[in-house]
Amino acid sequence: MVPIISIKNLTKTYASGFQALKGVNLDIRQGEIFALLGPNGAGKTTLIGIVCGIVRPGEGSITVGGHDIIRDYRAARSLIGLVPQELFTSYFETVSANVAMSRGLFGLAPDPARIEKVLKDLSLWDKKDSPVMTLSGGMKRRVLIAKALAHEPKILFLDEPTAGVDVELRRDMWSQVRRLRDEGVTIILTTHYIEEAEEMADRIGIISKGEIILTEDKAELMRKLGRKEMTLHLKDALATVPAPLAGHRLALANGGRELVFTYDSATERDGIAALFGDLAAAGILLKDVHTRQSSLEEIFVGLLKERS
Ligand SMILES: Nc1ncnc2c1ncn2[C@@H]1O[C@H](COP(=O)(O)OP(=O)(O)OP(=O)(O)O)[C@@H](O)[C@H]1O
Ligand SMILES: [Mg+2]
Repeated sequence: MVPIISIKNLTKTYASGFQALKGVNLDIRQGEIFALLGPNGAGKTTLIGIVCGIVRPGEGSITVGGHDIIRDYRAARSLIGLVPQELFTSYFETVSANVAMSRGLFGLAPDPARIEKVLKDLSLWDKKDSPVMTLSGGMKRRVLIAKALAHEPKILFLDEPTAGVDVELRRDMWSQVRRLRDEGVTIILTTHYIEEAEEMADRIGIISKGEIILTEDKAELMRKLGRKEMTLHLKDALATVPAPLAGHRLALANGGRELVFTYDSATERDGIAALFGDLAAAGILLKDVHTRQSSLEEIFVGLLKERS
């Protein structure tokens, strides 16, 4: 399938001389939710800014819907809605005026029905006549989303949509983003929150110091790199790991009442069977067993360590 966004060998050096992007290659597939995950200063906002025509690119090329973002800027930009990281908007104007104006910026005719749908979808309809400055922080963020959707974009960039948003509103935004995806909008979001990428994304790209160090289907990433941890709750506490079990990656925990086994979920199924056999042979009785998948956070930390 032809990617809806194609980024080739993109670099960016700011006027200060700082190189924020070092040859980024990235394809975004039509209809996916792609999460760009990386620490502060990794280059996420720079990358989005370039695709959206706000930041001037260095070397390399980008197409959006087949349109080159430089040669064919208007066609490319009209496909994109951007929810910026920084909250800036016309605070004195009402919610509906803000959203209607964003549509106008793209040269589209006014469409009150469209504006109404967007505001209702984002639970902003009862605030439509309120000046933006009277809204809470979370609502202001939703106004930014409404503005980004006013011109019916095929692609939506969300630059840290849920930074500083409470848990409930975050869940609410996630479901709104999913609904947009179901309507056919391609979504690219940036986040520091591993939980958010894990919850939302079909694919995840990890960016660090201006380089994309990995892109992978989320499920595949979890399968490949996800270590699992199995906690065996023992009937009787142990003082040490018994000698017959020394060959397994085991550690005692919780005052000897638990044995913790770490293993690679993709390759070490046999290890589990052998462990249970050895446990039985050593006469160790279990009360309970729990397993836990490593989080993306742990994967991320592991990846960065590997490269440094
Ligand atoms: N206008 C600018 N001039 C000089 N350097 C800049 C400029 N904008 C960004 N940078 C630098 O480029 C790097 C990448 O910044 P960017 O905003 O893209 O990071 P980010 O991944 O979005 O970070 P965050 O998670 O904090 O939003 C940072 O080191 C930043 O200081
Ligand atoms: Mg940023």
